[in-house]
Amino acid sequence: MTTAAKRLPRASGSPGAGAEFDVQKVRRDFPLLRRRIRGRALAYLDNAATSQKPQVVIDAIRRYYERDNANIHRGVHFLSQHATEEYEGVRRTAQRFLNAADASEIIFVRGATEAINLVAQTYGRTHVHAKDEVLITAMEHHSNIVPWQILCEEKGARLRVAPISDSGELLLEEFEKLLGPRTKIVAVTHVSNALGTINPVQSIVEMAHRGNIPVLVDGAQAVPHLKVDVQALGCDFYVFSGHKVYGPTGIGILYGKSALLDAMPPYQGGGDMISSVTFEKTIYNKLPYKFEAGTPHVAGAIGVGAAIEYVNGLGMDNIAAYEHELLAYATEAVSAIPGIRLIGTAEDKAGVLSFLLDSIHPHDLGTILDQEGIAIRTGHHCAQPVMQRFGVAATARASFALYNTREEVDALVEGIQKVREVFA
Ligand SMILES: Cc1ncc(COP(=O)(O)O)c(C=O)c1O
Repeated sequence: MTTAAKRLPRASGSPGAGAEFDVQKVRRDFPLLRRRIRGRALAYLDNAATSQKPQVVIDAIRRYYERDNANIHRGVHFLSQHATEEYEGVRRTAQRFLNAADASEIIFVRGATEAINLVAQTYGRTHVHAKDEVLITAMEHHSNIVPWQILCEEKGARLRVAPISDSGELLLEEFEKLLGPRTKIVAVTHVSNALGTINPVQSIVEMAHRGNIPVLVDGAQAVPHLKVDVQALGCDFYVFSGHKVYGPTGIGILYGKSALLDAMPPYQGGGDMISSVTFEKTIYNKLPYKFEAGTPHVAGAIGVGAAIEYVNGLGMDNIAAYEHELLAYATEAVSAIPGIRLIGTAEDKAGVLSFLLDSIHPHDLGTILDQEGIAIRTGHHCAQPVMQRFGVAATARASFALYNTREEVDALVEGIQKVREVFA
């Protein structure tokens, strides 16, 4: 055990984290965590890229294909009706998970990226015109930059970017100053994937709503770590990907307020999104089906439903408390290593520890850690403007999930020490 491990109290020593949350029991739910990599116990610290899957999610997908597979919404036969009920049941599960007012406000999409593109191409194309503005922040993932850039280029509109501080916090006053009569939509991340910063979404929404400007929140990195209540946040759109919250790839959720979704044109045309079709005219289906053209990813929806039930079973508050403490432990332990520079030191953070070690290239660091069975991410994390803001080309990023432990953090610290020795 490292000295850092001795300095901080055990997880069970803090309220809410220990008694309710048995991390060793949780780990047994994730078969992949039993793998050994390069002869070493795996320390999987790349959860911001994608999370591992609990057995219940794997079983739900398998059961669907073994027993329940049929196309939905179209059949009178037993299997089709059953698959439809399961799929629509997940919509209600997701509604409760986000505390949306109605299940019809939950749209199944491929992931956060598709959800943002959907809003940019429907709401955005309808409401953003020449000389209008779209306001984002300097800490967005490329998925919450490029769709708005495409829109702005097409429309002759302007993409405005609210700056961030040296610690990686949004400068709220600057943000507010950028809101104006030309601002047609605000799109902000809830939690930064490169810095870990948790943004004050409620304040952002209040500021934007004073000017009747809708707000899209990119929740890709928030949903695995925090309890999200879209009605309490007041946001107009909220998006996330299933695979980052212990579900499968290829499925995600777009939440939108029904009044907005109702007024938006469809994103794609095809089966299921119509109420009637003639060669002269098509009447679109009601919500949420208007936005779900074609056969959806039924197995993916069932997988994400099982994932949501899994985290609900553990309790989002317990998960958040446990991870908060783990991140504090990791931050203290890693920053104590000589030559470490943390990138992203906001007061309020979740899940992510980005750092540099002396002038060692993060790829070298990641490659040596990989030899020890430690999986971290190195690079720009699909957030090149964040790298530019901090004057670096890349960072090393350890990102945590509910199954990570202090022992894995200790292994990371020891691994970084080895890297120092190699480059000494
Ligand atoms: C903050 C943030 N937004 C959006 C995305 C895009 O998610 P996906 O690739 O699942 O669509 C990511 C993925 O890393 C992310 O971290």
